[in-house]
Amino acid sequence: MTIPPVVRFLAAQALAFGVLAGLARWTTLGDLVSGWGWVACDAGLAVAGCAMFRLPWWWLPLAAGLPFAVAAASGAAVPWWGWATALGLLALIYGGGVTTRVPLYLSNRAATEELARLLPATPGVRACDLGAGLGGPTLGLASRRPDALVVGVEASPGPWLVCWLRALPRRNCRMLLGDIFRHDLADYDLVYAFLSPAPMPRLWEKVRTEMKPGALLVSNTFVVPGIEPERIITLPGRSDARLLIYRVPG
Ligand SMILES: C[S@@+](CC[C@H](N)C(=O)[O-])C[C@H]1O[C@@H](n2cnc3c(N)ncnc32)[C@H](O)[C@@H]1O
Repeated sequence: MTIPPVVRFLAAQALAFGVLAGLARWTTLGDLVSGWGWVACDAGLAVAGCAMFRLPWWWLPLAAGLPFAVAAASGAAVPWWGWATALGLLALIYGGGVTTRVPLYLSNRAATEELARLLPATPGVRACDLGAGLGGPTLGLASRRPDALVVGVEASPGPWLVCWLRALPRRNCRMLLGDIFRHDLADYDLVYAFLSPAPMPRLWEKVRTEMKPGALLVSNTFVVPGIEPERIITLPGRSDARLLIYRVPG
């Protein structure tokens, strides 16, 4: 099992801090190094830790910057619960995508309209938005296709609560709090994903093994590496905005 980058990043920071705390406690280094000197040493050790844990290069400036940001912020007149509340809010909104490396950003209306056209015209047809965000595609699809059952799965509690409240008036729409990789896809005719490059190989493996032959995976923007989409629909907006349509092989 590979350890998620954010865990390795935090481990490098903790290791750097632990080493310095040990040096300060058990050596005379504390008399020689100034406050900002300690911060610089901490940043250097954290960078080395990130390199040792084989994080991509762009984590290194973040590792160097974090100790300085924390040291600078510690002088601000913010009580501990202010920081704790901010951290809690971030976890509520973005927590679900931290380990799968998928942040929250939203599909446009054109994507939802295309999804409604792609969904087969069979009564009782089922669709799922994997990582439902604030529920736009799930609710949009449910209102455009009242003949379908549309499910949204979201791991972050904050967005999920928004989705759940928005879905209350709709009878053909369900919002589930949970991990998409623990959600069984066997009953769906179409699954929609607007995630990131990181989970696409694992997602395709899940789709291929669980969904019935002929069912569709529609990915907004991100390709499944090594698999040719059956069709690509260009979307308005960003230059790379498109729907990639993959059919589950027989
Ligand atoms: C880019 S947003 C897309 C939101 C929505 N589908 C849309 O198109 O507007 C991706 C969402 O997936 C959620 N997510 C990421 N990994 C997840 C996982 N393993 N299980 C459930 N949700 C996840 C994130 O919390 C985020 O809200």
